[in-house]
Amino acid sequence: MGKNNAKLANKNRGKPIPSEALKLLLNDLTPQEEAALPRGWQVIGEVVLVHVPDVLQPRKGEIGRALLSMYPRCKTVVETKRIAGEFRQPVVEVIAGDGTETIHKENYVLFRLDVAQVMFSQGNFYERRRMSTVGQGEHVVDMFAGIGYFTLPMAVHAKPRRIDAIELNPVSYQYLIENIRLNHVEGIVNPIPGDCRDKAPVGVADRVIMGYVGTTQEYLPWGIRALRPGGILHYHETTPEKLVFERPIRYVKEAAAAQGRGAEIVTTIKVKKYSPGVWHVVVDAKID
Ligand SMILES: C[S@@+](CC[C@H](N)C(=O)[O-])C[C@H]1O[C@@H](n2cnc3c(N)ncnc32)[C@H](O)[C@@H]1O
Repeated sequence: MGKNNAKLANKNRGKPIPSEALKLLLNDLTPQEEAALPRGWQVIGEVVLVHVPDVLQPRKGEIGRALLSMYPRCKTVVETKRIAGEFRQPVVEVIAGDGTETIHKENYVLFRLDVAQVMFSQGNFYERRRMSTVGQGEHVVDMFAGIGYFTLPMAVHAKPRRIDAIELNPVSYQYLIENIRLNHVEGIVNPIPGDCRDKAPVGVADRVIMGYVGTTQEYLPWGIRALRPGGILHYHETTPEKLVFERPIRYVKEAAAAQGRGAEIVTTIKVKKYSPGVWHVVVDAKID
């Protein structure tokens, strides 16, 4: 066993390495195909999401069927190509089975979504968990609520007084409404359709979540303005390795200073590797 495989086997502690299990189900793989086999995939509710490298494109139907046989409770396998645009919409193709709408259960929270229309990042698992532990009794503003990624775990577990959950994409907004009902948090979550720059309240929030990546810094003036003195900002950003955490901290401090306010950095977190050389990070700051 090579050094890398040995490391993987150790990490999996006796469980089969994913690509090994998949390999057993595929016949006559060339060495190039074998080397390119996916080592991981996501299971969202009853849907398996997998990235298929170029060399395996002609065999993606077989890969889809093999994955379906590995997950008997799943109904569909989709190939994920990329996440696009300001709504962070997935570009996917069904490669086995049928149906892309599902209910994903995580940490006692139900998320209904269509994986062909809205994203669900398993890499944000720990951040969703963290958000389920803060906000008790507070007025929270979730500026980029999506289908309720952070709003729902917080509403279900921490029970804030109120969460204003703002979402611009009408498809995500409809799922947000459904998920509020599904999780019985109608008394806590106030869903608001539209652009957070128009809809965020001013000076009242104990906590603001800015769970968006790409151009989040452009929205900082509205995030900071929403907070009462002493409120907490959760600022997400995709940051080049060399600028972690210097740049997000600088952006938060500059945006606070522009409103004559100070920012005390409370926590810094690397959420996940976003792309080569780029990290998805979160900076928590207390805004005075
Ligand atoms: C997909 S989420 C980010 C991922 C999420 N934090 C997670 O845990 O997977 C970002 C959401 O912000 C929404 N959005 C983008 N611009 C917006 C704006 N100006 N106002 C409100 N929502 C916006 C997008 O439609 C999207 O649903």
